[in-house]
Amino acid sequence: MVREIVIWPDPVLKEIAKPVDRVDDSVKKLLDDMAETMYAADGVGLAAPQVGVLKRVIVIDTSPRQEGQTLLHLVNPEILRTEGVTTYTEGCLSIPGEAEEVERAAKVWVRALGRDGRAFELECEGLLSIAVQHEYDHLQGTLFVDHLSSLKRELIRRRMKKLQAEQKAERAETKAAQVKGAKKHESAL
Ligand code: NI
Repeated sequence: MVREIVIWPDPVLKEIAKPVDRVDDSVKKLLDDMAETMYAADGVGLAAPQVGVLKRVIVIDTSPRQEGQTLLHLVNPEILRTEGVTTYTEGCLSIPGEAEEVERAAKVWVRALGRDGRAFELECEGLLSIAVQHEYDHLQGTLFVDHLSSLKRELIRRRMKKLQAEQKAERAETKAAQVKGAKKHESAL
């Protein structure tokens, strides 16, 4: 099931997500829904707070842009070690239409539980390394805009507010049209 993606600056995105006790059926369902939501939105990563769930759960699939990759489920991820520095122009499904260059570690080593509840470790390079750091940030209530200057962040915040107002107006219009349609239907009876 595709879930609704929360748009920044929604306050839920600033919260710290809580560890998962056990990878039970509800966590598996969350992982599956998140993967479906990520693919539907054409993203390469999604963290649970972005669908309004404050759990330490991430899905990543950089395969469209990185060879040899596949869908990854990371529950309770920990970044064990980082190495080097790199920059990448990042976007975020919670900040649609925006992209800015962010400085990150070039390589990271991560430990997490998989969808089967078993712990695994992974060495990440390239886009996967960026995605792990970006999604891990989400669990800490940090977004890529928090790595930018306050001026840039404010400009993006204003554009997001405008976008949200437009979407709200659109939804109201659709609803009004539906009500009108329903009335028409009633009178036709
Ligand atoms: Ni993001």
